[in-house]
Amino acid sequence: MATFKANSMCFVLFVVFGAALGILGNRDTFRRKVSVELNPGLSPPSVLPAGVGLVHVRGLGLNDTLHFLLCNAGAPALLMVHTNSTRSAVKVNWPEFINSSSPSSLKVEPESSVQYRSALVFTRVWEYDDINNTADPQQTAQSSFYPPYELQNFLWSLNVSVNQTDVTVTLCGREKTESFVNGSLCLQFSAFESEGRDEVWPSLLHNANSSQLRVWLHDVTPRGNGSRFALEFQSVGESGFEGRVDVHSSIDDEYTPSIFKVSQWVSSRVNSSGVVGYNQWKPVAYRKPRPVFEDATPCKHSHLVSLNHIPRSGLVQAYFTGHPHTHGLNISFGIAKDPVFYSNSKYITWTVLVGLGEPPADSFSALIIIIITVGLATPLAIIIVGGVFVWIRKRMSHSSGYEPIN
Ligand SMILES: *[C@@H]1O[C@H](CO)[C@@H](O)[C@H](O)[C@H]1NC(C)=O
Ligand SMILES: *[C@@H]1O[C@H](CO)[C@@H](O)[C@H](O)[C@H]1NC(C)=O
Ligand SMILES: *[C@@H]1O[C@H](CO)[C@@H](O)[C@H](O)[C@H]1NC(C)=O
Ligand SMILES: *[C@@H]1O[C@H](CO)[C@@H](O)[C@H](O)[C@H]1NC(C)=O
Ligand SMILES: *[C@@H]1O[C@H](CO)[C@@H](O)[C@H](O)[C@H]1NC(C)=O
Ligand SMILES: *[C@@H]1O[C@H](CO)[C@@H](O)[C@H](O)[C@H]1NC(C)=O
Ligand SMILES: *[C@@H]1O[C@H](CO)[C@@H](O)[C@H](O)[C@H]1NC(C)=O
Ligand SMILES: *[C@@H]1O[C@H](CO)[C@@H](O)[C@H](O)[C@H]1NC(C)=O
Ligand SMILES: *[C@@H]1O[C@H](CO)[C@@H](O)[C@H](O)[C@H]1NC(C)=O
Ligand SMILES: *[C@@H]1O[C@H](CO)[C@@H](O)[C@H](O)[C@H]1NC(C)=O
Ligand SMILES: *[C@@H]1O[C@H](CO)[C@@H](O)[C@H](O)[C@H]1NC(C)=O
Repeated sequence: MATFKANSMCFVLFVVFGAALGILGNRDTFRRKVSVELNPGLSPPSVLPAGVGLVHVRGLGLNDTLHFLLCNAGAPALLMVHTNSTRSAVKVNWPEFINSSSPSSLKVEPESSVQYRSALVFTRVWEYDDINNTADPQQTAQSSFYPPYELQNFLWSLNVSVNQTDVTVTLCGREKTESFVNGSLCLQFSAFESEGRDEVWPSLLHNANSSQLRVWLHDVTPRGNGSRFALEFQSVGESGFEGRVDVHSSIDDEYTPSIFKVSQWVSSRVNSSGVVGYNQWKPVAYRKPRPVFEDATPCKHSHLVSLNHIPRSGLVQAYFTGHPHTHGLNISFGIAKDPVFYSNSKYITWTVLVGLGEPPADSFSALIIIIITVGLATPLAIIIVGGVFVWIRKRMSHSSGYEPIN
């Protein structure tokens, strides 16, 4: 009875201790004040084509500002600009931006405050007939590829919703070809005031320096019996920075079940190892909007390739001057021998985090810490308490044994 009581006391103590450790250890208190505006400074007679918009999200820090600009003029693009001023602003020369997206028709001023700039552009959706069932576009004959869907030619709709703390923008694009009449490609952008994660898998950890893009492709009529898809995206940045894709293992799959890896396309200054910006994702896509375990399918990235031209995005063409660097990458969905092709669910979704500085890393959560603490401490406590108990029993029986003689 005493052992049981002492043990449960220990248990309670360890739980409290573990929880405190978990919460204190993981807590990231950095916050930004997030605000959003649609088409900043646009006034008649300038009008944008129907469904096209420029969304500006400002994340105000104590010393700095993190600007995110999302635009679907041409291929959909997300531009991230970090300034060391709290008064930096986006200036758009709307007549020029609308007419030809000429260089410098969009600026973040004062330009001297800009510390880092980089854009991510979604350029194409590739479809191929996976006859050999390898789920690997790089091993697939070029003849098995269908003409790609060029996102710059899509017709878009755009909705902005602002929640108390977070900003969400949804863009959906359609195309006129027969196979796409019922289909759409959607991008959902979110920006955050502070640390957190989505409930929906892959539940990536985000913070105030990051934004998230969830992409989904649904109801497209596959052009082959074994159709699989890949998404091509390109990153535009300044010279003086170099990119690489790293794959790290992650110990904890609590938030993204069965996925123990995280991929990140990071950018750092030439000759320096410090990461300045990143695109981070987990190598998994889902076949349902609210997935369960069986709806997960692995995804793969191709090698980074250097490209000669900037992508056809109005935002990128209007903002970047000089000779920006462009790199491209494909993300392909599916795994070799997977009997489930796109036609099965006609839905695939994938999520990427775009942010500034070091990418967020999963650490052991409070729950895991409690489990480990309890797991290690309980046997120890039993041994100690048990030992003390036995020792007391021995002492008591000894003393009771001597009593009659005295
Ligand atoms: C703001 O900038 C100053 C000078 O660069 C620096 O000393 C200070 O720590 C910064 N404050 C914050 C909260 O980052
Ligand atoms: C639009 O751009 C074209 C060249 O791209 C130029 O010739 C024309 O003058 C511009 N129109 C306006 C209204 O700026
Ligand atoms: C911002 O950065 C520029 C250089 O990029 C520097 O000249 C300027 O002093 C910085 N301003 C502040 C307020 O730190
Ligand atoms: C299927 O695999 C064979 C042998 O590896 C290869 O020659 C052929 O090109 C592949 N077919 C396609 C469509 O990729
Ligand atoms: C705000 O967004 C969060 C996360 O997307 C969601 O959980 C919450 O219900 C939303 N709140 C409102 C008022 O829409
Ligand atoms: C935007 O909202 C309109 C009206 O509520 C809706 O018809 C449209 O489907 C929405 N578009 C997206 C991309 O969510
Ligand atoms: C599009 O949807 C309609 C109605 O559901 C269907 O009749 C038609 O066959 C579909 N078109 C294609 C190309 O799948
Ligand atoms: C976000 O960026 C700011 C400015 O670079 C930095 O001071 C802060 O520590 C970063 N916060 C996180 C959570 O990465
Ligand atoms: C798809 O499969 C059906 C029946 O299995 C066959 O008739 C058709 O030719 C196939 N289509 C292609 C493009 O391979
Ligand atoms: C990087 O290092 C190489 C050799 O160490 C040097 O030649 C080059 O100039 C450096 N580049 C920059 C931008 O510092
Ligand atoms: C993506 O894959 C397609 C098909 O293999 C290829 O033509 C294209 O060059 C790839 N794009 C990039 C950026 O690697």
